[in-house]
Amino acid sequence: MINMIFLGPPGAGKGTQSAYIIRDYGLVQISTGDLLRQAVKDQTPLGKEAKMYMDAGQLVPDALIIGLMKDRLASPDCAEGVIFDGFPRTIAQAEALDSMLKNDLKTEITQIISLNVADELLVERAVGRRSCPKDGKVYHIKYNPPKVGGVCDLCGGTLTHRDDDREETIKNRLKVYHETTSLLKGYYADSGRFYEVDGEGNPDGVYEKIKGILG
Ligand code: AP5
Repeated sequence: MINMIFLGPPGAGKGTQSAYIIRDYGLVQISTGDLLRQAVKDQTPLGKEAKMYMDAGQLVPDALIIGLMKDRLASPDCAEGVIFDGFPRTIAQAEALDSMLKNDLKTEITQIISLNVADELLVERAVGRRSCPKDGKVYHIKYNPPKVGGVCDLCGGTLTHRDDDREETIKNRLKVYHETTSLLKGYYADSGRFYEVDGEGNPDGVYEKIKGILG
């Protein structure tokens, strides 16, 4: 069974590559960013608290995120294998994940894949990202444009630009990544399950490398 973590800065392609893996491996993707955006949209207490951190490009506090993940992992669909996308982002979250998997699900992380992309490219990727609020499909105005500008190929819905994809916010998100989340590379380095992948080629080429790791 595969339980993998996607580590990587904002815009590295974690969501894009997760879609390929879901298609081929049938895993469940848990994106804490997507769960938080849904909570913001639904105006839940968590969403109201998380919004100010997200809009500023800061991390949402560990206690809130760990509680969110514990609830999500209790769902039976997680038993078939999970892609953790954007979680963990701190050492405290990584330790909590290890403990939840071991004690609650009697399983463990099988691969940690870190996608590496230069900061200049990441800003361009995030500024140009558009997504469909109905089916979640992600586009890029230059690298992966929809057939008709601003319209989802799959459902015909109007594409949106994420609030935190403004250039200034992205720069804050990158700063947080380098100061905090990248420390997780050290946390996992000696696990024997940690892989670094160059995320700068085209998405299909990046996926070939990931498939080589997942087997
Ligand atoms: P989150 O939603 O997790 O955002 P992120 O990690 O910053 O990652 P992104 O979704 O921006 O990028 P991605 O790597 O998925 O890239 P994508 O595939 O879309 O988090 C948002 C916020 O929520 C955080 O700032 C924080 O506040 C909060 N949060 C979330 N989790 C948290 C946690 N665990 N703890 C605390 N706070 C948390 O690709 C980007 C663009 O590039 C797309 O347009 C795509 O088409 C294009 N693209 C992708 N791959 C390629 C390629 N190979 N070549 C060219 N273009 C490409």
